[in-house]
Amino acid sequence: MKKFTCVADIGNLKEAVQEALEVKRDRFAYTHLGKNKTLLMLFFNSSLRTRLSTQKAAMNLGMNVMVLDVNQGAWKLETERGVIMDGDKPEHLLEAIPVMGSYCDIIGIRSFAQFRDKAEDYEERILEQFMRYSGRPVFSMEAATRHPLQSFADLITIEEYKTVARPKVVLTWAPHPKALPQAVPNSFAEWMNAADYDFVITHPEGYELDPQFVGHAKVEYDQRKAFEGADFIYAKNWAAYVDPNYGKVLSTDRSWTVDSEKMALTNNAYFMHCLPVRRNMIVTDDVIESERSLVIPEAANREISATVVLKRLLENL
Ligand code: CP
Repeated sequence: MKKFTCVADIGNLKEAVQEALEVKRDRFAYTHLGKNKTLLMLFFNSSLRTRLSTQKAAMNLGMNVMVLDVNQGAWKLETERGVIMDGDKPEHLLEAIPVMGSYCDIIGIRSFAQFRDKAEDYEERILEQFMRYSGRPVFSMEAATRHPLQSFADLITIEEYKTVARPKVVLTWAPHPKALPQAVPNSFAEWMNAADYDFVITHPEGYELDPQFVGHAKVEYDQRKAFEGADFIYAKNWAAYVDPNYGKVLSTDRSWTVDSEKMALTNNAYFMHCLPVRRNMIVTDDVIESERSLVIPEAANREISATVVLKRLLENL
């Protein structure tokens, strides 16, 4: 594997899940692969799980790890070409990228949607520039439009807990006070479509996702109807994608909060969320604390998805 930014990069999903389960049985089986290799993790945005799980994955593989919080301690970076740099940003990304590439073997990037310009976000300009100018394999630690390490961990978790070959998986919008990117729901939809589950997306009108990610999912505007017979409920908030409301919060309607009354409509479904989660906005305390909540094993599988991705990148250096 030369890069990891979307589901297509991982290839056959059944093989990827088998490899993940093998890695999970012995996560130190490939420590030789990372000897004298350095991972640089670059964060333009905050993180708890991605930071720790990816660093742990690199250590599982015997790698050295460097972590840079771009907005804390590094020079402020200009990202636009052609800008007269007389403001507060003393360094341009076009010099910074190859410099950083010269210090490492693999680069992971976290760079969220800015919500300034939809085209800029959906063209993944930051990630693309790293792939073009770093000279190193690049993987996404959540970019503007996708979060593939999360989605791979979600897939592994569903495969571990499902009791039928083709479970009903429901992605539900839930309320949140601030505008959040579409990266997690886009990516989850992309991976669920690729896995060919019985996949349903439910959200209030106005929260339609980019059709390229919706794919062959059924879109159901009635959340209760969507929950009927579900085996997995995956909750997430996202801001509007459709123009002219791109990046806006259109609703904080708490009738969309996932609660035990709605979970009772399902086929005793498991509850999933990528975390961090705002309790009693996205999901009630009793649902997230219930025995059907998978949020902790799901987060633990982030170490496994990252180990598989780094292993494959190392194998192709
Ligand atoms: N789910 C996830 O990516 O968590 P962090 O933002 O804490 O990394």
